[in-house]
Amino acid sequence: MEYRVSERAASLAPSLTLAITAKAKELRAAGEDVIGFGAGEPDFDTPQHIKDAAVKALADGFTKYTPASGTPELRQTVADKFASDNDLEYDPAQIIVNCGGKHSCYNVMMAACQPGDEVIIPAPFWLSYPEMVKLAGAIPVILETTDESEFKLTPDHLRDAINDRTRIVILNSPSNPTGSVYSPEETKAIGDICVEKGVLMMSDEIYEKLIYGDTVFKSVASFSKEHQDHTIIVHGLAKAYSMTGWRIGFTAAPLPIAKAIGAIQSHSTSNPTSFAQSGAVQALKGPQDHLAEWLAQFSKRRDYAYGRLTNMEGITCVNAQGAFYLFPNISGTGMKSAEFCEKLLAEQKVAAVPGVAFGSDGFIRLSYATSMENIEKGLNRLEAFVRTL
Ligand SMILES: Cc1ncc(COP(=O)(O)O)c(C=O)c1O
Repeated sequence: MEYRVSERAASLAPSLTLAITAKAKELRAAGEDVIGFGAGEPDFDTPQHIKDAAVKALADGFTKYTPASGTPELRQTVADKFASDNDLEYDPAQIIVNCGGKHSCYNVMMAACQPGDEVIIPAPFWLSYPEMVKLAGAIPVILETTDESEFKLTPDHLRDAINDRTRIVILNSPSNPTGSVYSPEETKAIGDICVEKGVLMMSDEIYEKLIYGDTVFKSVASFSKEHQDHTIIVHGLAKAYSMTGWRIGFTAAPLPIAKAIGAIQSHSTSNPTSFAQSGAVQALKGPQDHLAEWLAQFSKRRDYAYGRLTNMEGITCVNAQGAFYLFPNISGTGMKSAEFCEKLLAEQKVAAVPGVAFGSDGFIRLSYATSMENIEKGLNRLEAFVRTL
């Protein structure tokens, strides 16, 4: 029997992040002392009160199907979050709870794109965006940015790229992989163009709460009713509540798009896990004290790693304003990112993700969602590595 996979599946780029993680695991299993900078998840545990809410839901027998778009209580809680954090009014009918933020993004593409539509993605990008766009039959249009502009798209660049086929512009601030955060003024300028041109934005705000110093986050939807009407916000609990395994994301969208997402979800995954939704209500409604503690730790690690990286020969680095990644420029070493990361792992047992996976060769992504001890050790090894080049 010859097994033929769909063209859709065959068109997907294999995930370099997963490949490097698998290699690092293999080395670790073989007894090697590998330092991992690959993590896309906080190294903290989910706060106890959130776990308690899920455990109680299980004990109370909340173990059956819920409405496919999420429980009324969680949809209302998410609408309340947007009202209090972002000054955005949403009817709970506009909120769909999804099985993780990744699922939120995927549903948006499936619900809003026709084959042949173009979706603008600024690079460096979170590596799943172009693949999701392709899965929806649409065409990813990558707009390169550089570290000179802190990896931010300029209004002129965006304006030039929009044409009659442009359906969606993807925004991700704070950004994975760069940690860049658009200022409110920069955000508004991008939003203004999309409103003017009648193009939708998918604003991925999953790192909203993870910002440092005096950085300010403002959702692009919050500048006017028109901005809100042109924006689909995707969000989730994975990062700020360390709930990566719970698989809870959510989408806030204009009603026709929310309904379309609900319909797609009702025929694909159905509802996100019932008792995980109960935990999610607690996450959003309960105490938020953990955040200040985590941010203090992330901030300390970021400062340390940034200081070390900017003192290494052949490496430059823009400091991150949010998320938990740094995206140093390694082009001064003369190596491409995949070769750099392969050698770094083989010679120094340090796992980092090559920038080419995020559309920007010449960079590597280092996650500082790991202990200070690991960061120190890993950066000592990285420094030793670049000295040999
Ligand atoms: C920018 C961005 N969006 C969305 C997600 C999806 O997160 P999850 O599906 O775990 O909620 C991630 C996870 O790495 C991310 O970095």
